[in-house]
Amino acid sequence: MADARPFHWEFTPPAVPREIFRVEGGRPLHGRLAVSGSKNAALKLLAAATLTGERCRLTNVPEIEDVRVMAETLRDLGVVVDHPEANVYEIASGDVDWLFVPLEAAARMRASFILLGPLLARFGRVIISNPGGDRIGRRPVNLHVEAMRALGAQIDYRNGYYFARAPGRLRGGEVVFPTVTVMGTENAILAATLAEGTTHIRPAAQEPEVDDLIAFLRKMGADIERAAPDTIVVRGQRRLRGAEHRVLPDRIEAGTFVVAAAITGGEVTLEGAPCEHLGAFLGVLAEVGVAVACGRDTIEVRGAPPGSGAYRAVDIATDAYPGLATDLQPPTCVLLSQASGTSRVHETIFEDRLEWLAELARMGAAVEMADPHHAAIHGPARLHGADVEIGDLRAGASLILAALAAEGTTTIHGAHHVRRGYENIERKFQELGARVTRLPEPGTAEGMAPPTS
Ligand code: EPZ
Repeated sequence: MADARPFHWEFTPPAVPREIFRVEGGRPLHGRLAVSGSKNAALKLLAAATLTGERCRLTNVPEIEDVRVMAETLRDLGVVVDHPEANVYEIASGDVDWLFVPLEAAARMRASFILLGPLLARFGRVIISNPGGDRIGRRPVNLHVEAMRALGAQIDYRNGYYFARAPGRLRGGEVVFPTVTVMGTENAILAATLAEGTTHIRPAAQEPEVDDLIAFLRKMGADIERAAPDTIVVRGQRRLRGAEHRVLPDRIEAGTFVVAAAITGGEVTLEGAPCEHLGAFLGVLAEVGVAVACGRDTIEVRGAPPGSGAYRAVDIATDAYPGLATDLQPPTCVLLSQASGTSRVHETIFEDRLEWLAELARMGAAVEMADPHHAAIHGPARLHGADVEIGDLRAGASLILAALAAEGTTTIHGAHHVRRGYENIERKFQELGARVTRLPEPGTAEGMAPPTS
């Protein structure tokens, strides 16, 4: 159980204004764009900084909602989190007052669960809310909990909270997952860095963000290696030290802008976007017939005009890295709506991640849903403006893509979902020549959404 002291709880998630995107379609994108730091790396790096009492400095951190919520959650634990300038965070977890991660944080940002491993490893106890599901699926965390138990933790679940304790110290062990889990792998790595003894994790996720986390932890003095592509070995240390790290580029943002250029008939060069991080997505682009040139860390795309039917239909299936990222499934579906023929889409990772296609269909895409994991897309479809609703951030960004290729104007409700994970996305599109504006949702009092929206 937690400390006897009464809970003091002041987490007030920043209110999120309800907003819309208004997009005028039909304009090819041209220019150069520097890709921002990765959301799915930055959130874990912030959590990793709690493994030491020494100051850590992270640069190239994306200015996005989820990072602000993570920073707020850490501050409420008593962690010192400074934000001295844009894209820079400094963290010092000398001591913490409370080891309590509330529902308010978890409801706003599922990745708050990544705090389980580091807080358990460093402080020996934590009470953390079950983040629950979201618009793309149930999102269980059972594999994270089993991994902690494999390292000697005692974890009870009551009323939506996990009460976790590690009497003494976590001890190294065998963490064997029944399926690849990105954050499950990351929680196990974080916990193992301070455990007594050696930990083997397999099958370990191979996403580039996991290797970025490993690189940061090594700078902190952790002893970690990938003994095989899907096996990670961690030799626990007594303590870790402060370190500095630059967040790697966001491969999902890169893939999103590749599709933006491809379907508007534009020419765009993405900077700081290594092609190899796109995994199987590169192969899909080649099969579809998108002209892509890879530089050392640039991607050049030359698109075909909307509705020109220049692209070929292909069958795709999402998979763990280096397979086709499930986060790139929505942008890829927009591309396939412009391909000639029928494409079959198999979403293998999440059970509700194809639901968003109903919104794409409202813009004129020809979509057939066979079941929650399978859909067919017939193209090329002339997309037209419509009023559509965003459910999750990757589908939201993809509806902007569709609107860019559509004839007429599209209003996209729920823009706040996209701001969770893409830094200044409308400004990035504007700088490439698109007509995208972000406005308060008409009719809401100052456009403010309830905090848990
Ligand atoms: C990470 O989520 C990413 N989020 C997701 O990005 C990404 O889509 C996903 O990995 C897959 O690549 C962050 O890194 C913050 P998983 P994660 O554990 O780790 C099942 C975005 O838009 N599973 O790899 O939560 C799970 O249901 C987000 O940025 C369990 O059954 O995903 C899924 O079917 C969306 N039990 C599969 O494993 C568990 O305990 C893979 O999920 C954990 C997962």
